[in-house]
Amino acid sequence: MKTIKDIDIKNKTALVRVDYNVPLKDGKVANDLRIRASLPTINYLLEKGANRIILISHLGRPEGKESPEFSLKPVAKALNKLLPDQNISFEPLPGLDQKLNAPKEAKIILLENLRFDPGEEANSEDFIENIVKSTDADFYVQDGFAVIHRAHASTDAIKKFLPVYAGLLLEAEISNLKSATENPTHPVLLIIGGSKVDDKQPLIDKFTKKADKIYVGGKIAADGYKSNSSNVIVANDFDENEEGKKLDIGPVSTGDLANLITDAKTIIWNGLLGYAEDPAYATASTIAAELIGEHQDAKTIICGGDTTGFVEDLMTKHDSLHYSLVSTGGGASLEFLLGKKLPGLESIKD
Ligand code: 3PG
Repeated sequence: MKTIKDIDIKNKTALVRVDYNVPLKDGKVANDLRIRASLPTINYLLEKGANRIILISHLGRPEGKESPEFSLKPVAKALNKLLPDQNISFEPLPGLDQKLNAPKEAKIILLENLRFDPGEEANSEDFIENIVKSTDADFYVQDGFAVIHRAHASTDAIKKFLPVYAGLLLEAEISNLKSATENPTHPVLLIIGGSKVDDKQPLIDKFTKKADKIYVGGKIAADGYKSNSSNVIVANDFDENEEGKKLDIGPVSTGDLANLITDAKTIIWNGLLGYAEDPAYATASTIAAELIGEHQDAKTIICGGDTTGFVEDLMTKHDSLHYSLVSTGGGASLEFLLGKKLPGLESIKD
């Protein structure tokens, strides 16, 4: 994969696709994982003497219309806090044949939400060509790992107009996911939780041969999930609330899972083991997150929005927890694990 480490950056203008599709609360960024994850690439480009860095992203699903609640403005503020030496310039999407109207001295520019224009999701060549021309970009950096499963203008059509290179986040995500799936060190343990069996079944099927053990917990197990495969283990005791609702996997199952985690050399975890929003039912997920995070000699991959959020939160409380990868992409990591072709990756290979 061609990355930004393969090219001369000095005095060049980089157009960088990031994924700043972050949760907002009261007009502020509620979780800045994806913004922090973009910093290595931004800092690398700065260190290597880039003339300008133009960041582009989507936020939410505004369906091609300008909608203030989906503005990236709060993200520009959060980014400025993380890069206090930089004055991030926040600019609207350029109109047709318009040059970007940012202050001359602006080194880092964040453009408004790409999805305010229907051209982004329609994979429009005209839309992305206009952005390329208006920004005078010399090359394109794909660092929005979380959006590479979408065939949109900024992931797919862009390859017709600029050479595309992987950013450092994208490179780290892909290399970790690859090493956990292609020739992984055995035993391989896949832990599946969450509530939607239809979403998880393809992953279980894909790993039935690849993984030594697949452990199924969460609501899926509580709802009575059954498998004919001998390497699929389903939690079978549960912590219940007063109405008899099974809300976490119980101590026996948690103990079984703990043993599997300790023995594994490659661990992929997707989906919480119980109703972890309520601390009373977060026990199994907490034990799993701690054991995985303290596992010294295993490749450990955490993916899926709820699971990564839970683990991130725990990491802020315990310095001892380290994972090979806490993936920034829910849908993207799932599609990668399923072996699907990802348009944003294909553009880099082209
Ligand atoms: C995500 O959050 O998974 C990505 O940003 C993609 O967003 P989307 O599902 O709206 O395309």
